[in-house]
Parts: sequence; C-alpha cells; structure tokens
Amino acid sequence: MSEPAPSSQSVAFDRAVDFYDQTRGFPPDQAAAIGRLIVEAGGLTSASRTLEIGIGTGRIALLVAPGVGVYVGVDISAPMMSRLRAKQNGERIHLARADATRLPFPAFTFDVVIAVHVFHLIPNWRAALDEVRRTLRPDGRLLHAWTKADPAYQRVWDSWRVALGPEIEQDVGVHWRHYATFLEDSGWQPDGPALTHPYTVAKAPLTLVDDLRARLWSQTWRLTDEQIEIGAAALRRAVEAEFSQPQAVHLFTSRFHARAYRPPDR
Ligand SMILES: C[S@@+](CC[C@H](N)C(=O)[O-])C[C@H]1O[C@@H](n2cnc3c(N)ncnc32)[C@H](O)[C@@H]1O
Repeated sequence: MSEPAPSSQSVAFDRAVDFYDQTRGFPPDQAAAIGRLIVEAGGLTSASRTLEIGIGTGRIALLVAPGVGVYVGVDISAPMMSRLRAKQNGERIHLARADATRLPFPAFTFDVVIAVHVFHLIPNWRAALDEVRRTLRPDGRLLHAWTKADPAYQRVWDSWRVALGPEIEQDVGVHWRHYATFLEDSGWQPDGPALTHPYTVAKAPLTLVDDLRARLWSQTWRLTDEQIEIGAAALRRAVEAEFSQPQAVHLFTSRFHARAYRPPDR
C-alpha cells in the first residue's frame, strides 16, 4: 500500500472490517458465477488493465483479478485492504490507499474501472465519476455493479430510515434507489445489456432488528443510540406486519446487477 489517504467525508469501512465478509459475502456456491458476470458485463480479458475503486476486502477483486492483465485497487480504508491482503492466495492485486475523488493515476491508464457498492458512500460522487473518466483509456468503460435486495426485505428495511426522517433516509452519496439510473442521468452511456444473477439468502426476518442494533450497515454509523432504538421499533413493527412468522427462516432472493458504461462525450 502506498500514500496516505487525503481527507475525505466519504464513509470509510474501517469499523466493518471484522464483519464485512460475514455479512456481505456472496453464498460460496454463487461467487464464481458472480465473478463471471462481472467479466462478461465489463468485457474483461486477460489483457485488461483494470482499476477497482473502493476495493474493500476484495470480495470482487479476488474473483476477477486472476482473469485480467492488471488489477489495481484503491480504498480509503487501510484495514479493509489489509484484510484483502490476508485472504490473497496468489491473486495479483496492486493496492493503494487513495480516494476515488482524487485518483493517483495518470490520464488514460485503465481499460475498465470497476465500482461495486461505493457511490452511495461518496458525497462528491460526481468528482469520482470525473476521475473515472479521466483515468479511462479512450475506449474504456466503467463497470458498475450492486446487489438489489429482495423486495420484501427492502420494504421492511426501509421502514426504520423512513421513521427517522428525510435526512437519515438519504445516503451520503448516490441514494440506493438511483443506483440503476444515476449513471445515465449523468450522461454515461450503457454499453451492453444489464446482466443479473439472482441468489438466495436464508434469514429470519426478525434478526434484521438485531442487525440494526449491531450497526452492521453503514447507514447506521451516523445515528445516536436513541435514533437506533426509534428505528429498531419501527423495523420490528414493519417485520411483524410483513411476515406471518417473523422468527422463522425465510428465503430472500437478492439480485446482483452489473452493467458497463462509456463516459459522456466520447
Ligand atoms: C461497501 S464496501 C464495497 C467493497 C467492495 N467493492 C465490495 O463490493 O465488496 C465500500 C468500500 O469503499 C470504500 N470507500 C468509501 N468511500 C471511498 C472513496 N471516496 N474512495 C475510495 N474508497 C472508498 C470503503 O472504505 C469500503 O471499503
């Protein structure tokens, strides 16, 4: 790892390092298919020079890096990248501690920039997009991917944010509801179809209340204890209204989406 991160109001994931993989990891039997989806959507080849912004613990990088020419990752969280290093098993990944809004690379460096679950954490996400555009080669693409939760899961999870009011309901950066549209709204052109991979997660809905209290999700990190308790009460009510057996394990279907985009004006 090189260079200290510049100051940033983006959400660094230092505090998530010990539970990120456990709570955000793909089901082991689905991970390879998700890696292939990214390779296909991004048109990645063994010659591709690839950058991932917000590389985290390598959930994506470790799947994709073995199939490309060069894989570089940046993150503002050193602990997340240290965890990636600890998991590496021969995959060649170059890491730098850096902010996506100020990338330490020359113009026209990469064929593909990968961004997975990061734009909602960056207040100045437009500056990050400008940096992606600057560092992409003339025929380069941004590969954007994210997991869309099961509609029932999303309905109940939203309840606590709505209960706490519009300021909390917002994300720091791009709101998750705009993840499918914000790039086109910003002038980026889809390049190829949106690809989707569904997978199933088994979970008792009532355990969502425990997840909120444990502050597993980044939207909870800026809340007071009092706000957490107000949110937890709203979430419990929503879970009990949505599910007839909230303590029983329910199968939720998540959908991993991936799509490539070309920058504006190219
Ligand atoms: C939700 S995690 C996603 C990690 C990985 N892309 C994945 O899908 O598993 C988001 C990561 O982005 C990092 N991050 C947040 N803001 C950033 C920024 N402005 N520049 C670089 N990394 C950032 C966080 O520290 C965290 O490790």
